Amino acid sequence: MPIQEYTGFAGAKLQAEVQGWPEDPAVLLLHGGGQTREMWKPAVESLVQAGRYVISVDLRGHGESDWPEDGRYDLDAYVGDLKAILSELGSRPVIVAASLGGWIASVALAEDGEHLATGLVLVDAPPEIDAQKARKVSDALKKRAETDPGNLPWDVRFLDGFDVQSTLDRISKSASNIKMPVLFVRGALSELTGHEVAARFIENFRNAEFAEIKESRHLVTEERADLFNATLLDFLERRVPRFTPEYRSGSDARTLRDALGCFATGVTVVTGMNGKQEPIGLTANSFTSVSLDPPLLLVCIAKTAGSLDTLTASEHFGVNVLHIGQQGISNTFAKPGQDRFASTPWQRGDHDVPLLAGALANFECRQHEIADGGDHVIIVGEVLRAKFEPRRDPLLYFGGKYRRLHFA
Ligand SMILES: Cc1cc2nc3c(=O)[nH]c(=O)nc-3n(C[C@H](O)[C@H](O)[C@H](O)COP(=O)(O)O)c2cc1C
Repeated sequence: MPIQEYTGFAGAKLQAEVQGWPEDPAVLLLHGGGQTREMWKPAVESLVQAGRYVISVDLRGHGESDWPEDGRYDLDAYVGDLKAILSELGSRPVIVAASLGGWIASVALAEDGEHLATGLVLVDAPPEIDAQKARKVSDALKKRAETDPGNLPWDVRFLDGFDVQSTLDRISKSASNIKMPVLFVRGALSELTGHEVAARFIENFRNAEFAEIKESRHLVTEERADLFNATLLDFLERRVPRFTPEYRSGSDARTLRDALGCFATGVTVVTGMNGKQEPIGLTANSFTSVSLDPPLLLVCIAKTAGSLDTLTASEHFGVNVLHIGQQGISNTFAKPGQDRFASTPWQRGDHDVPLLAGALANFECRQHEIADGGDHVIIVGEVLRAKFEPRRDPLLYFGGKYRRLHFA
């Protein structure tokens, strides 16, 4: 699991788990008091599958983040941590925050932080809580600390360091500063907040929605992760949709390349022999099977490629399909200015083309047709011989990155 460390309030080290593609819109997850980032596991999976980049933080005094010596667990320390993380992120995330995390996020965004996020989802974060119920929750957590000392993934001192009531007062005073889309989620059966209190509370925000998770009490992410995830994704898709890039005739070539990169391919090295009987070759993923009868395949070679003249002038050429262990070879044959065959075992085939040793498949071809393909030349070859190793996994290429096969 990739871990990212942030420096929070007064130098505290905060650990976060990051998942997904950094180019995707970000979602920052904050857990509740007496929990850790583990609580978001099912949500993280669905968010990444829905094309979000997820950063799931351990709050101070929780999980793998610092448990500060000085015992600073007051609201300002937590808000300082969150603002420090937000200022380090490359983009403005949607914050999805449960109970304690939700209160921290509300204050951080309402008090001079509106520009730091694009949306806020408050989960099980009661806007009012009666003192007796608050004490009951705190006592239950302290009891766990007493019965299981040393084994808890959170520092029991946070319970005394954080004042719930003054935090809720601060939120009710400043919530109207938050203009971004807000979703307030509660369990329909929650014993901590009533429906009316929650409905009244969200009117403080300029742009808020209210969702109740049926058959769930407090802790909706545990009790009905399926319903919670569906509600969260629906909100994100409607209110903070993913940017879907689009290419139109005349747009930049990069966007077109990204669109074409959505087609997953294998990776090949196309080879030939030049006039001096030296092997030449380049990495190409534009390989396509064309016909079985006659047996034809094609590759597209850039008109700027140094190998092009040899390949078009030769009667024969080879196509070597790389296996998962040959990513290094793919890189070598894509980089200019090095002796590509010096470090790569190969032998001559029946038709005098270089064949890479141990490839997933080697095709020996006779040139069948050359066609113009814009800034590329399309070389169609008739397959004279194909050797292959069906037990190996292919090296894949998708979205500009190498991939491997994944079996569900
Ligand atoms: C995964 C991958 C796929 C590539 N596919 C092609 C391709 O289909 N056609 C092409 O001309 N270049 C392709 N390239 C780029 C060439 O391998 C690269 O430009 C190489 O340096 C050309 O070598 P040359 O100029 O010595 O012929 C690809 C590169 C990579 C990494």
